[in-house]
Amino acid sequence: MEFYEVINKRRSIRQFEDKPISKETLERVLDAGLKAPSSNHQRQWELLTLTDKALIHDLAQLVRPYPCRITEPKTPQQEMFKIAYPRQRSMIEESACVILPYFKMKYDLKDSKNDYGLMDYGAAWALVENILLAATAEGLGSVVHIPVKTEPVKIKEFMQVPDGYYLPTLIMLGYASPDALTPAQVPATVEKKVRWNKW
Ligand SMILES: Cc1cc2nc3c(=O)[nH]c(=O)nc-3n(C[C@H](O)[C@H](O)[C@H](O)COP(=O)(O)O)c2cc1C
Repeated sequence: MEFYEVINKRRSIRQFEDKPISKETLERVLDAGLKAPSSNHQRQWELLTLTDKALIHDLAQLVRPYPCRITEPKTPQQEMFKIAYPRQRSMIEESACVILPYFKMKYDLKDSKNDYGLMDYGAAWALVENILLAATAEGLGSVVHIPVKTEPVKIKEFMQVPDGYYLPTLIMLGYASPDALTPAQVPATVEKKVRWNKW
């Protein structure tokens, strides 16, 4: 797929078909992630990659669907909440692959003395975006879930991850269900969002 077609096609998909992804495809997607830029020229990432459906099911039980009272959304954001909130667990359960992109934490993210931790966090997200785009190029749907509250600790314990690693997000991949819901996109055009040479 042509690069800008990939950019324009990528959407967050939260409903997947029950269909596995070939190892070769996953390896290309993971390799694309690992090619991302990184602070300190370290690439200190460990991509814990789950394809075992029973394991994925058990991992999903650590994430709660969020309640959502919106019945008639009035904005694209409300539409997203209505689609996304109740599917935080099921989108993991339905996915064919979950990638846990752990990165080595040298500096505390919340350290007020310096922002070095944020650099590694930023690099992790460069990796995440490469994965989302590569997945799109492979004809896959993808979505992220940011672990909140007790989820990071529970996931770390469940996967027996050693200390010193931080999980910025869970990445779910799979073939999109033909009925997959996506909210209206929020338009962000060069015309409206770019200021040339002055604010
Ligand atoms: C930093 C970040 C955090 C996100 N967290 C979640 C999440 O926890 N659960 C979820 O379903 N989607 C999550 N998303 C996906 C956004 O809801 C989605 O990107 C946004 O609604 C735009 O839709 P699109 O991805 O289809 O363009 C996240 C996206 C980003 C960039």
